[in-house]
Amino acid sequence: MSDIKLLISKFNLKPHPEGGYFSETYRSEGQIPASTLPSAYSGNRNFSTAIYFLLTSDTFSAFHRINQDEIWHFYSGSPLKLYLISDKGEYSEQNIGNDFSDGQVPQFVVPGGYWFAAKTINPDSFSFVGCTVAPGFDFDDFVLPKRDELIAKFPKHQEIIKRLTHS
Ligand code: GUN
Repeated sequence: MSDIKLLISKFNLKPHPEGGYFSETYRSEGQIPASTLPSAYSGNRNFSTAIYFLLTSDTFSAFHRINQDEIWHFYSGSPLKLYLISDKGEYSEQNIGNDFSDGQVPQFVVPGGYWFAAKTINPDSFSFVGCTVAPGFDFDDFVLPKRDELIAKFPKHQEIIKRLTHS
């Protein structure tokens, strides 16, 4: 069995709307009441959640946004490149991996409110990573914009947005 099939079956990974595959590994029992959260949250949220996330080199994680900071952790496979656009339109990239002499880091925090996408760097490969957030993840906080919408917001980044949006 290929490494990819093995990971999908071993960890019961399911397709993610942004691209790639995921499964939730942790959801705290405790909840934060909506009344104490910033207004960007539409309801109560768990204290924290974590997922496994698998990207394969034939696809990508499309630009999306959540309210909270998201901590990425590298586990195995090819290094992965994160593409970030701040709400002010500042563009940056960060490689996640375990070749520390090559600018890769095993952990990286994507700031809340940033638009971000990800791609496996090596061809014919995969990146197996984890993503942890607090407050916990809820699809109500997840924004997956259409390509044209994001280009209208950040016209100077249209090339990368075209490459890293699905529709
Ligand atoms: N749970 C489902 N999707 C996601 C995601 O994109 N990020 C995090 N952190 N948790 C999720």
